[in-house]
Amino acid sequence: MKIGIDKIGFAMPDKYLDIRDLANARGIDPDKFTKGLMQLEMAISPRTQDIVTLAARAAAEILNDEDKEKIDMIILGTETGVDQSKAASVFVHGLLGIQAFARSIEIKEACYGATAGLEMARNHVMAKPESRVLVIASDIAKYGVGSGGESTQGAGAIAMLIKKDPAIAVLNRDNVYQTRDKMDFWRPNYSPYPCVDGKFSTELYLDCLSTTWNQYLKENSKSAKDFKALCFHLPYPKLGLKGLSAITENLEDHHKEVLSKNFTSSILYSQRVGNIYTGSLYLGLLSLLENSENLKAKDSIALYSYGSGAVCEIFSIQLVEGFQKHLRKNRLTNDFDKREKLSIEEYEDIFFKTIEVDENGNAELEEDLSPYALMKIDGHKRVYRK
Ligand code: CAA
Repeated sequence: MKIGIDKIGFAMPDKYLDIRDLANARGIDPDKFTKGLMQLEMAISPRTQDIVTLAARAAAEILNDEDKEKIDMIILGTETGVDQSKAASVFVHGLLGIQAFARSIEIKEACYGATAGLEMARNHVMAKPESRVLVIASDIAKYGVGSGGESTQGAGAIAMLIKKDPAIAVLNRDNVYQTRDKMDFWRPNYSPYPCVDGKFSTELYLDCLSTTWNQYLKENSKSAKDFKALCFHLPYPKLGLKGLSAITENLEDHHKEVLSKNFTSSILYSQRVGNIYTGSLYLGLLSLLENSENLKAKDSIALYSYGSGAVCEIFSIQLVEGFQKHLRKNRLTNDFDKREKLSIEEYEDIFFKTIEVDENGNAELEEDLSPYALMKIDGHKRVYRK
């Protein structure tokens, strides 16, 4: 049975910060961010747009009534959950009106969670072929004003519908994964921001990539030449480029050229959104599929998923006939170019404004007319507007 990605949706906040404005405000040469990290903009979420509303918007972009009747599992990968107990996917289930007899869970392992979700979704459809599974990756990456990671923040959600006979790509059964118990990036329960050993995290990302890649090629008797494109977890695009260079070092020039062109297509969205943790790899995939001019049916794409701490995985997908018809070609002009640009003062105010509840667990929030928004906290309960 062929099981894979039938639809992909994306949502980001409608506000952004130009990374050059951030550099100037912090007394840093803007080239460090635009060339050194290859980052251009960062999506900025107000407190009324959390991982639940972003997830609901990403899914609403792709789901029709038949999907909502047939989805029987929602898996949401995040490392910026809104509750220690209730899964964000349960809120999403309610906001989208998915049929009742569905399982809704949240998965956590830093930026890797949604990849485990994809595997779980595939196994579920294998056991129940008429099922459709909604896999969502939703995160808000926030390191704090003046922090070392401030230039690699962002916010957004990716939603993927997994079913048999998919319209976009088949998930190949070639996954290879690795776990290493390391402290490169983590967030203790008492801290609003992550702790990060920046340089070590980049070294670990690259070492996990090369060792897993070698194991992947060995286990599957494959070579880099078998792929038309490679997608990477993108905390910032330059790290993906370093990964690409490392694992394609020995390829002939014409293969390198194709992979390099497709890498450029895969970073267009991330360059303007920033890091969205669990969703970053899949935002790269969406950017590739919607912007590459040389991909065709049956081409294989390898994906590198990395979650600090650390768990990583490499697997591949194969494009199916007509995949282009199920993608948007106007996202850059219609969505990205229409966002509101924030000043540095507005960014600091909006992104870092917290929700303080009174002694009864209540908080009123500013009005937000987005399709889904957090309206208030009422007796410690989050209340969303559909
Ligand atoms: N012009 C052009 N380039 C410049 C420059 C200038 N004026 N100044 C510096 N650069 C270059 C540097 O040479 C460097 O490039 P190379 O890596 O190719 O040498 C690049 O800009 C970055 O410079 P630094 O390493 O000095 O930057 P930094 O000390 O500020 O750290 C960072 C960068 C580690 C990414 C930091 O932003 C950070 O800690 N970010 C959060 C952690 C992170 O994203 N880690 C990634 C791996 S972990 C992961 O993947 C999980 C996840 O999502 C968090």
